[in-house]
Amino acid sequence: MAAYRFRVALTLGARPTPIVALWTTSVGKKAVMASTGLLMVLFLLLHMLGNLKIFFGPADFNSYAGYLRRIGEPVLHGAWYLYIQRVVLGLAVILHFTAAYQLSRRDQKARPTKYVHATGAQKNSFATHTMRWGGVILLLFIVWHLLDLSAGVANPHYVDGNVYGNVVADFTHWWPNVIYIVAMLALGLHINHGFWSAANTLGYSNARRQAAIRVVGSTLAVVITLGFLAVPIAVMAGLVR
Ligand code: HEM
Repeated sequence: MAAYRFRVALTLGARPTPIVALWTTSVGKKAVMASTGLLMVLFLLLHMLGNLKIFFGPADFNSYAGYLRRIGEPVLHGAWYLYIQRVVLGLAVILHFTAAYQLSRRDQKARPTKYVHATGAQKNSFATHTMRWGGVILLLFIVWHLLDLSAGVANPHYVDGNVYGNVVADFTHWWPNVIYIVAMLALGLHINHGFWSAANTLGYSNARRQAAIRVVGSTLAVVITLGFLAVPIAVMAGLVR
């Protein structure tokens, strides 16, 4: 549809802006996916490191949560930084998911029949499936996670301002643990392949750097996954209570 509108605009003589023109191409959508993906990985790394402050006890963790609402003061007013971050991350998620969905529709239209033989192409198809289903799991997780620990509306034990207590209350029940563990494993797989893909799209990859890019992507995936998993595991083991 977007490509059609783009062609109509060209026929009518209207010049689309370079950004709109880029968005209509597959390369442009991949570049958007790569850059929004890297931005989200940066956020996740910081979020994971921040979560580990839970091991220093309720006072440290809750004061860290309070600090997140004061970043940028006095230049920024109150929790403005947090609101800016929410808008930027929200846009990144929407653009990342929209580009992924549109690229997969294009891919399906271009190749409606499935692979028959076990070849390198089938391996690619396996990675594509993992990325697609992992992406859907992560999108559902993000919505639930925000309702659970950020807005608190999906969490019967939520107490405003007691971030430490909210996290501990969550992981003392078995089912939030299952949701978090499944989502974190999906996240690890997604980052592992996504980082490599982003490096290729953005032109950082060549024959010499392939192995290094794989190592960096896998290390990031393992560190972020284990770092996030440490919190529910510590609560289940009674180390954090
Ligand atoms: C075990 C893993 C995780 C734990 C324990 C956790 C914990 C939390 C907590 C306690 C908050 C609320 C912070 C506050 O109100 O100050 C929060 C917010 C948030 N988390 Fe997580 N998180 C985890 C994983 C993730 C993952 C994997 C993602 C993204 C894919 C994510 C994205 C977010 C976002 C976007 C916010 C909202 C920040 C805001 O209020 O603007 N989290 N998380």
